[in-house]
Amino acid sequence: MLTFTMNNGNQIPAVGSGTNSFAKTDGVYTGDTKEVVSAIRAGYRFFDTAESYGNEEAVGKGIKESSIPRDEFFICTKMATRKRGSDEPPHHSRETAREAVERSLKKLDTDYIDLYLIHMPWDNKEEAREVWAQLEDYYREGVLKNIGVSNFTIDDLSDLLAHCEIPPVVDQVRINPESKNKELIAYLRENNILPMAWGPLRFEQGRDVLTAIGEKYGKNWAQVILNYNCRKGYISIPKSHSFEHQKSNLEIFDFELTEEEIRTIDEL
Ligand SMILES: NC(=O)c1ccc[n+]([C@@H]2O[C@H](COP(=O)([O-])OP(=O)(O)OC[C@H]3O[C@@H](n4cnc5c(N)ncnc54)[C@H](OP(=O)(O)O)[C@@H]3O)[C@@H](O)[C@H]2O)c1
Repeated sequence: MLTFTMNNGNQIPAVGSGTNSFAKTDGVYTGDTKEVVSAIRAGYRFFDTAESYGNEEAVGKGIKESSIPRDEFFICTKMATRKRGSDEPPHHSRETAREAVERSLKKLDTDYIDLYLIHMPWDNKEEAREVWAQLEDYYREGVLKNIGVSNFTIDDLSDLLAHCEIPPVVDQVRINPESKNKELIAYLRENNILPMAWGPLRFEQGRDVLTAIGEKYGKNWAQVILNYNCRKGYISIPKSHSFEHQKSNLEIFDFELTEEEIRTIDEL
């Protein structure tokens, strides 16, 4: 598996499995580990979950039951946060951050988390700084091996960067041809923060072009965009309930897009 180096020198796999609808039927949690088990069988060792997905327990259980050593896995989870624009409680603090991390450790049944993210920015930047300071403490203790953010804008990040001691390693945002986020990605690069693409396959725009490019390599549109993301230095977390898709979404490292093809995809 290709890995990227984060700003703290640690490695992160270039591709992981999304999980937001795993262990659920019609949106209701079942605890079924079948999708996680299938993803592990397909070769995934990196899982992206979140407290708000309500499935950390199933992700942890699937990993445990694989009997593959914990240190071969890379688990990302996220602290559930308030909605932007909402003044409603709960308010966040060091204490709520501590409680959230402890809940995730318990549900995942692990004593450390490879990557812990603040799921969404909210309006109160003072609170975000406090939460971040608590995550920094966990990072120093080795409980959180890497800390980052998700859905943070340039404005959210610039405040955090101005006040933090340890900068976030990633910003997980929607990146695909329908959501290019060019300005944000340029800012992330300037600040040595890796872009992490959620929804990497949830788009329609340009699929025909990707399919045409893939024909030459015997690859489908999904494999082409995932390969492209690797070339651009974006971590991808495609999610699939089908073993065949899970497997093919990892079969992306045996071909090289030309510079012209990269430019074509840039412009989709
Ligand atoms: N931080 C955030 O705010 C945030 C927000 C949304 C998502 N996420 C994370 O990002 C992950 C990925 O995002 P996502 O689940 O929204 O979208 P996605 O992974 O881009 O797309 C999922 C869809 O693509 C289909 N698919 C997967 N592989 C395919 C293939 N090879 N060929 C054709 N179709 C394929 C899946 O259907 P099948 O099951 O039929 O394969 C599913 O309908 C989530 O699971 C979650 O972990 C984070």
